[in-house]
Amino acid sequence: MYRTHTCGELRISDVDKKVTLAGWVQRTRKMGGMTFVDLRDRYGISQLVFNEEDNVALCEQANKLGREFVIQVKGVVKERFNKNENLSTGDIEIIVSELTVLSVSATPPFTIEDNTDGGDDIRMKYRYLDLRRSCVRANLELRHRMVVEVRNYLDKQGFMEIETPILIGSTPEGARDFVVPSRMNPGTFYALPQSPQTLKQLLMVAGVDRYFQIAKCFRDEDLRADRQPEFTQIDCEMSFVDQDDIIETFEGMAKHLFKVIRNVDFEKPFIRMPWIEAMKRFGSDKPDMRFEMEFVELMDVMKGYGFGVFDEANYIGGICAEGAATYTRKQLDALTDFVKRPQIGAKGMVYARVQEDGSVKSSVDKFYSQEVLLSMKDKFGAKPGDLILILSGSDAMKTRKQLCELRLKVADELGLRDKNKFSLLWVIDFPLFEWSEEEQRLMATHHPFTAPNPEDIPMLDEHPEKVRALAYDMVCNGIEVGGGSVRIHDSKLQDKMFDVLGFTEERAQAQFGFLMNAFKYGAPPHAGLAYGLDRWVSIMAGLDSIRDCIAFPKNNSGRDVMLDAPAPLEQCQLDELNLLLKKEE
Ligand code: AMO
Repeated sequence: MYRTHTCGELRISDVDKKVTLAGWVQRTRKMGGMTFVDLRDRYGISQLVFNEEDNVALCEQANKLGREFVIQVKGVVKERFNKNENLSTGDIEIIVSELTVLSVSATPPFTIEDNTDGGDDIRMKYRYLDLRRSCVRANLELRHRMVVEVRNYLDKQGFMEIETPILIGSTPEGARDFVVPSRMNPGTFYALPQSPQTLKQLLMVAGVDRYFQIAKCFRDEDLRADRQPEFTQIDCEMSFVDQDDIIETFEGMAKHLFKVIRNVDFEKPFIRMPWIEAMKRFGSDKPDMRFEMEFVELMDVMKGYGFGVFDEANYIGGICAEGAATYTRKQLDALTDFVKRPQIGAKGMVYARVQEDGSVKSSVDKFYSQEVLLSMKDKFGAKPGDLILILSGSDAMKTRKQLCELRLKVADELGLRDKNKFSLLWVIDFPLFEWSEEEQRLMATHHPFTAPNPEDIPMLDEHPEKVRALAYDMVCNGIEVGGGSVRIHDSKLQDKMFDVLGFTEERAQAQFGFLMNAFKYGAPPHAGLAYGLDRWVSIMAGLDSIRDCIAFPKNNSGRDVMLDAPAPLEQCQLDELNLLLKKEE
């Protein structure tokens, strides 16, 4: 046996026990005739003591230990003179009588402690060392606990975990596919699943009734803090259910996770907010509701007073930042620059401070009388000391999205996005279709198997853009943590959907024939949802990026810098796969 205890296990009640420990040398300190070593493993840190007076040779051996050496020690547990309250083992130390070096270590490229000196790139290159840091490992432990909870919760609800294949054909989730060439079928390619969407629907046709899977998904899209090219879904599907059934089941699961992981209770049901309302009040289909700062529309109060920018606008709207009238000119200029960045694209920003006497001082005073400014202030219900920020534009939706960015930026600056506060809601009634500028055609907002709201089916031909979907997203703190829909289970309606999406019959048949054919053999009404596991874990752990809860994540360019992937193939592999690379110009 290599050890009798782990490095996080020994307590004052173990004093005088003979123990054997094994682990990594976190650091050594020499003080007079004593050498202290912090020994680390997954479970914690124990202090080892080597005393020159007891054994000179052993102490010399200890002095030669380098950081990250793997050692085994035998010794006796003693009460510590200087206790360390920050360590679970801080009341004791081990007086060592025997030391064996199990493995030496080169000098690590960064210090393996919570406050490391290693930058992002170097830590990712040596991720196996980064994972030795307790703060990083804690995220993986949390992830593991969540997966165990999810499995138990769904098992109790009668869900069956079924694995679906990774080498499949294209799945329509709106991103690009990662593809894999087939050696045995030259000139053909598998696609990695963007989600197991079509397969889980087939499982419903198969009579599985309640399916789930902790599923790896692959999407070739631009990366952000909450996006990885390869991520994990808690993917679920149920038969003989409607939208309310799904919402209730998965709201229950969300509440359960919050209770067991964070000890947070939600007394009330989550709000269900129609998409259009979310866009109008917050300019986003994933509103951060931890704070208010709702949009106030100002077309009726501010248009038509000779201020050209507003007079030409089709939307004028603003937010009121409580107590932020102290913002300096420099801070306001910085906010203006922020909304004018090309990624956001606003033309400018108008601001107004509510003075101590209740009057309003604005950046457009020369166009507006105090009376108009006061009625504008009243629309916000603003008080002395508040700051009003206004954007306008020709396209209402675009301007609302810009105002949303401003709202989030100001909330960040005012410290309103507290990571220990959780605000969850459902966004429902998404539009069934959205216009793609890139493709110049209607696309399915969710995916082409999403059912239209039955009330809106008559509009499918004439006004498809007005049709609402039976689709829902769960949003937590401004992050979409899950999404799903009621599916079409009627092959005629599915044909109609492909028709509106501009699929020819042949293309629909070629791409989704397997699903449409399956629907001919008795498809139950079904609906489902997928939670983004990485996003859930990062919210529960208070992380800024989902990367931190993934053992081996990709960097911002989609690269695994540790494995150096993606990488070119050997010519013989290309030949075997029948692949000819285009010469770079
Ligand atoms: P959707 O595309 O909304 O739905 O994805 C479901 C959830 O997966 C998470 N997610 C991601 N997480 C990390 N990186 C990414 N690149 C990424 N993309 C998505 C989000 C999102 O809410 N098949 C449908 C589900 C269904 O209809 O049942 C689907 O995949 O948290």
